[in-house]
Amino acid sequence: MALTRRSALAGFGCAVAGAALARPSIARAATPFTRPPLPFAEDALEPHLSARTVALHANVFHQGYVDRLNLLVEGTAYADMSLEEVIRAAGDAGDLAVYEMAAEHYNHTFYFAQFAGGPSPPGPVLEEAINREFGGLDGFAHELVIASSGVFGTGWVWLSAEGEGLYLEGWPDADSPHAIGRQLLMGIDLWEHAYIFDYDARVEDYVRAVASQLVNWAAIEQRYIDGE
Ligand SMILES: [Fe+2]
Repeated sequence: MALTRRSALAGFGCAVAGAALARPSIARAATPFTRPPLPFAEDALEPHLSARTVALHANVFHQGYVDRLNLLVEGTAYADMSLEEVIRAAGDAGDLAVYEMAAEHYNHTFYFAQFAGGPSPPGPVLEEAINREFGGLDGFAHELVIASSGVFGTGWVWLSAEGEGLYLEGWPDADSPHAIGRQLLMGIDLWEHAYIFDYDARVEDYVRAVASQLVNWAAIEQRYIDGE
């Protein structure tokens, strides 16, 4: 299910008073916002993602979101907020430029963090949930490709949890199920800069490689168990 930007932004408003949000490790520091260092070497994801792609993605695109966010919020009420507070407030206010930059900073920090510690398979708890929801890892990979293919233009595909339930969905632009209070488990950037040099237009191969060869599922399982 891909939600529209409008519904996602409305969802963010609902989330303010609602459930606790899942969080990657982002410091709640006020501006200027800073990009955390990559938790691995730039060539650590080869051959699935090249050092060229990782370096460009982190040092140019992610850094660009951070730099533009800082420019936009300087001298505004956003400057005294945490990153999550900026995302919520800008979403509620319909301040799309600030919302997009803040949400992409959040998303990219989450994206790179899920590769920390190297790839590992899910343990029994998450594997059971994947079996229940998707009929196993092969079924999950199949649904991942379908969800990714459903994103028109830029966006992300997210695996999220609500209670024990798992949801695999494509979301447009910088939006995510974080907006409706779900716990983010895995996120794959579908913007072309994330894969075009390594996969040309073969986005299906890219998402399969990320999920099966790069993601630290053991760490994801622990967050799923902890519920945070
Ligand atoms: Fe990106």
